[in-house]
Amino acid sequence: MTLANELKENNFTHQTKRNQIWAVGGGKGGVGKSLVTANTSICLALMGYKVVTVDLDLGGANMHTCLGIPIPEKTLSDYISKKVSDINDLVVPTPIKNLKIISGAQDELGMANLRNMHKNKILSKLGGLDADYVLLDLGAGTSFNTLDFFISADKGILVILPEPTSIENTYRFIKSVYHRRLKMIEELLDIQPLINQAMNSKIATGQSTPVELVKKVIEINPEMGQKLQHEISKFNPHIIMNQVRSQNDIDIGFSIQNVCRRYFGVDINYLGYLDYDASVWQSVKKRRPLLMEYPNSKLVNNFDKIVHKLLS
Ligand SMILES: Nc1ncnc2c1ncn2[C@@H]1O[C@H](COP(=O)(O)OP(=O)(O)O)[C@@H](O)[C@H]1O
Ligand SMILES: [Mg+2]
Repeated sequence: MTLANELKENNFTHQTKRNQIWAVGGGKGGVGKSLVTANTSICLALMGYKVVTVDLDLGGANMHTCLGIPIPEKTLSDYISKKVSDINDLVVPTPIKNLKIISGAQDELGMANLRNMHKNKILSKLGGLDADYVLLDLGAGTSFNTLDFFISADKGILVILPEPTSIENTYRFIKSVYHRRLKMIEELLDIQPLINQAMNSKIATGQSTPVELVKKVIEINPEMGQKLQHEISKFNPHIIMNQVRSQNDIDIGFSIQNVCRRYFGVDINYLGYLDYDASVWQSVKKRRPLLMEYPNSKLVNNFDKIVHKLLS
């Protein structure tokens, strides 16, 4: 199946779906993706929404532990290998009311080999799950699987640490998503030659940013250029700064927002930050969800703000 068809299929899927899918990613491991996915899910569940949290971390599936339950008997591995035919059979309750989980593939190969057909099927089945919100914990990296789940979600959230490596990985992730989307849009609008033409003249005149590329396309063909710009403007990733210790750390989120606007022409929603707090690793050690175990942690307020922003 071509990428353009995939995009159309996903659009079709959206017409029949019943829930909102939010995907949580980030270029790097250990930045707090699982923390954010688990505790955002808990917040929504406590607010009375029906939530299913899905662990899509390739090979590193540990959402069950974040939510305080043992590995469920049936996981995505069984669905991918066709041992389980109905995705609803993977949904397992947690001790938290309104919150259920689909556990991740336990073998890396299973998920890494996910072919397009499987991926589309999983996406469309997730869209049909009986829930208000379906949260995806994507795991690290920029594999096509991870990028496609991020792109297809109704909201994509990136978790970032105030460290050069994490910031660098965030830009790499955004760039990878941007290029994958551009490729899909090119096929959808059938404008490959136009893009090539713009790229060639761009190189000739020494311009270099994606923003300038789009400008060039608009110059060459205003109608198609506007369509292209419109499609690109639909890409609005959300970001969260995690393990924040100072105002400087918080401000990194605003700089990333500025750079992405100027360089990619992409509007980033800065959802806010999570303080560095010892209660996080203490709750991990106890294998208990943070918000349930430490209701007085600073992070309760942090998450409250973030979730309200996501809902507004
Ligand atoms: N806000 C925070 N304050 C303190 N420690 C944190 C915070 N966020 C994450 N951590 C630490 O980082 C570890 C990795 O977080 P995790 O959510 O598992 O990352 P990821 O899913 O991105 O790999 C946690 O086990 C915890 O020890
Ligand atoms: Mg994780």
